[in-house]
Amino acid sequence: MKRVLIVHAHPEPQSFTTALQTNAAEELRKQGHEVVVTDLYALGFNPVASSADFSERANPDYLVYALEQRHAYGSGTLAPDIKPHVEAVLWADLIIFSFPIYWFSTPAILKGWIDRVLLSGPFYGGLRFYDKGGLRDKQAWVVATLGGQPHMFGADGVHGELPRMLSHLLRGTLGYLGFDVLTPFFGYHVPYITHEDRVKMLETFRQEVRNLDSRPRLAFPSLSDFDERLYPLSETAQGLSQEPNRHEALKARRRDDHNQMVLVDGMSGTTINLSQDEFKDYHKGVGMMALAAMALWLLMLALHI
Ligand SMILES: Cc1cc2nc3c(=O)[nH]c(=O)nc-3n(C[C@H](O)[C@H](O)[C@H](O)COP(=O)(O)O)c2cc1C
Repeated sequence: MKRVLIVHAHPEPQSFTTALQTNAAEELRKQGHEVVVTDLYALGFNPVASSADFSERANPDYLVYALEQRHAYGSGTLAPDIKPHVEAVLWADLIIFSFPIYWFSTPAILKGWIDRVLLSGPFYGGLRFYDKGGLRDKQAWVVATLGGQPHMFGADGVHGELPRMLSHLLRGTLGYLGFDVLTPFFGYHVPYITHEDRVKMLETFRQEVRNLDSRPRLAFPSLSDFDERLYPLSETAQGLSQEPNRHEALKARRRDDHNQMVLVDGMSGTTINLSQDEFKDYHKGVGMMALAAMALWLLMLALHI
């Protein structure tokens, strides 16, 4: 038996998004899970993070919101409208986020819940994120509806890949906090499909709720692949030496941290760590190319081309 919290953000109780949420709750209860629904619009949840969230300040002269969250959680002085939500997060084994996509993102009321409830301190902080995040013993599932159609999303789709579009939520929030993040459910083209298609979508959705335990997970970085200053551990240097053509796309930049050189890929902005020797080789290569270009130019000049 799981404890399931559904955080629901839709302003219309008769909407299809709300129907997905009620179907999820019904199906999960049928399976014997305990389900609590937080309906943000029905509650009139205040989404604005501000100094009013702290009745006693660590620093009354200057607001650093995350530091005050830590202080307020520790001293029990969080605003009364935040506290029950924090307790619900702590209680849950699985949190389902149910919402329509607004502007490639979540409705503002849900974004405000994230800002105010997912506290710095108990849930993340310092080097406690991704697989070291404070919520790593919990699962998260995003259930979202949208106006767009499936062909508009994907590597070649006009809007790019949908999970990438929501990476601020899937990775930047849920993965970052350590959640085991299930692959999202997307209800496409919802305002435009027929009643019959909506019924079919609800049936598919209920089936997916029943199979939640075997749902694939999203992959996120492990902090064990990074050093204590979050530089990637050095296997990327080998990748570079296997791909000599990429040298042309690299702009060199020197950093003295760790006695290592870091190249920044001019096309993608990706950084690649190199040892001193590899860095010298790279420069030799660039020098040879410059000499060859100069020789060609002199030849063209001599031949009056
Ligand atoms: C403010 C706003 C922004 C929206 N942004 C998007 C968007 O970025 N992409 C998209 O496909 N649909 C977008 N939509 C469409 C909604 O996602 C869609 O109408 C909703 O999911 C339908 O579900 P419902 O019938 O339960 O309301 C937007 C709708 C509104 C009102």
